[in-house]
Amino acid sequence: MAAVPVLKFSNGKSMPVFGLGTWQSPKGEVAEAVKAAIACGYRHIDCAWAYGNEAEVGQAIKAKIDDGTVKREDLFITTKLWNTFHRPDLVEGAMKDSLERLGLSYVDLYLMHWPVAFKEMELLVEKGFTKSIGVSNFNSEQLQRLLQTEGLKYAPVTNQVEVNPYILNNKLISFCREKGIAITAYSPLGSSDHPAFRSDAAFRRLFDEPSLQELGKKYGKTVAQVVLRWGLQRDTIVIPKSVTPSRIKENFQVFDFQLTEEEMNVVSALDRNFRACAFDVTSKSQYYPFHIEF
Ligand SMILES: NC(=O)c1ccc[n+]([C@@H]2O[C@H](COP(=O)([O-])OP(=O)(O)OC[C@H]3O[C@@H](n4cnc5c(N)ncnc54)[C@H](OP(=O)(O)O)[C@@H]3O)[C@@H](O)[C@H]2O)c1
Repeated sequence: MAAVPVLKFSNGKSMPVFGLGTWQSPKGEVAEAVKAAIACGYRHIDCAWAYGNEAEVGQAIKAKIDDGTVKREDLFITTKLWNTFHRPDLVEGAMKDSLERLGLSYVDLYLMHWPVAFKEMELLVEKGFTKSIGVSNFNSEQLQRLLQTEGLKYAPVTNQVEVNPYILNNKLISFCREKGIAITAYSPLGSSDHPAFRSDAAFRRLFDEPSLQELGKKYGKTVAQVVLRWGLQRDTIVIPKSVTPSRIKENFQVFDFQLTEEEMNVVSALDRNFRACAFDVTSKSQYYPFHIEF
């Protein structure tokens, strides 16, 4: 089985460019999804305390280690600090709670799920709970502020943000690249089960886009595979979520074809700056990241 390409972070550590998303993966299904993913070659799993399913993810990881498919060090596990634990005295406890649920002694990457505070997370690297730390949903101003923090020891290695053909996020991507911060593209398939798509008929689901269907036909690939390939060719790390074993396998078969520059542009032309994951309930917070352009 060919290894997944990796992307090297600014701190010298590497992350597989393809991972399994687990948001909205229900208990009772997520363990099977993680096992199916590891069995077909995924080595990177994207988790979060807030997804409420870390324990099941952990059981699946243990099962695949116990049956000899992988060793712990073959896997790249990300999880995230939730917003209710940003007070400095709560950070380590939240990290330990995630580790306990996952059944792990360390994670490879710990992200601040939404932009609030970062300093305390540095200690988690020093204590060996995580190999790297990063952020999620930070806009450029918040990143700039973070990077200018006096005495910052560990710059965030990645910013995990929404990127798919409906939201290219080009300016934020350029900004991050200039600062040596890798981009992890969440909702890489447009989060098609997101409530926004159910209530807003004006938005076509990515899977129904004729231009993507046509590209799929040309390469004998599905729309999901075309979109994921596009994400990889933009040097973003993609973490599609699925609890359907056949889709988990399908999504992974994207390393055997290449879109031309012109075809990349066809996919990018679908941009409409549409955010599936606007997390409006926090829009009154002073830290809400989406009030500025990028
Ligand atoms: N940091 C953050 O704030 C944040 C926010 C959002 C997401 N994320 C992370 O990013 C991951 C991915 O994003 P997402 O879950 O929003 O959405 P996504 O991966 O863009 O889309 C997931 C949806 O697509 C379906 N799907 C998957 N593969 C498919 C295929 N080959 N054909 C047709 N449908 C397919 C899945 O259905 P089935 O599962 O039923 O197969 C699910 O409904 C999350 O799970 C999470 O780990 C992070």
